[in-house]
Amino acid sequence: MTDKIPVIIDCDPGLDDAVALLMAGRNENIDIKAVTVVAGNQTLEKVGNNALRILEYGGIHVPVSFGFEKPMVRKLNIAAEVHGEDGLYGAKIPKSTMKPSDIHAIDLMAKILKESDRKITFIPIGPLTNIAMFLRRYPELKDKIERIVLMGGAINGGNMTSSAEFNIYVDPEAADIVFRSKVPITMCGLDVTHKAIVFKEEIEKIKSIDNKIGKLVGETLENLSKYHVEDGIEGCYLHDPVAIACVINPSIVKTMPLKVDIELQGKYTRGATVGNFGRRFNHNPNADVAFDIDRESFVQELIESMKRYR
Ligand code: BDR
Ligand code: CA
Repeated sequence: MTDKIPVIIDCDPGLDDAVALLMAGRNENIDIKAVTVVAGNQTLEKVGNNALRILEYGGIHVPVSFGFEKPMVRKLNIAAEVHGEDGLYGAKIPKSTMKPSDIHAIDLMAKILKESDRKITFIPIGPLTNIAMFLRRYPELKDKIERIVLMGGAINGGNMTSSAEFNIYVDPEAADIVFRSKVPITMCGLDVTHKAIVFKEEIEKIKSIDNKIGKLVGETLENLSKYHVEDGIEGCYLHDPVAIACVINPSIVKTMPLKVDIELQGKYTRGATVGNFGRRFNHNPNADVAFDIDRESFVQELIESMKRYR
């Protein structure tokens, strides 16, 4: 039996999703059982196609399955202003020859969980639609999820509104189901990912790695950086790779157990992840919320991950 942690990555590539997939692709601590896709940064068709292209380009041979094309209740909100019309900012990656699985993402998740004698870690790095629908459709398989290590949410401040982060904002009803599920959750939200900055000089280093993946990831990070000029940083935040890093090496982040509720009603606060601080309110925490990261080790891990490609 392998000691690798079996994982399913649920994503919406997306520039930082692409980096996350490539960071995971050659890691010796994790075994990717499947990559599932969900509408988010772009339409399902585009993000699905992007996942196939990235994985094939990286030589990462894992099953890929398409999930839901829209949130549970709301209309889909995409993020073309960050990730471009194609979702990958025009990255020069050839078309994929790989085909997605002919079964739906949540049915593939169920199949993998049923057939596995070990529990599986879910790593959602897009809106939580697929995960919530999986929990609804297959409640009997909940105990076969080891943990959900997600990128999403923000206890303090958002990036879609002043209080909501994109992945939760897009499908708050799904997030509500996930956070109430009693499955152990690690939440890597903006509180920690805004500390996971990769600076310009480090991006240069990645770009100069002597293989095509280093070049692709370096260029991807340069494109993401354009969006962050307004935030006053020379470089970019790396949201989704934090969730991957957290599974590879949990000690890289500092977490705090918190009771987190999802705001579904608020006129100004829809999709906020409300952290219940204080003795009176923080009963039965449902998530370990990451607030800090060893940034230098994180960036080092990112660089090493890209060197593993040939
Ligand atoms: C999240 O939103 C998306 O645009 C990124 O891919 C990331 O998952 C950050 O808020
Ligand atoms: Ca994402």
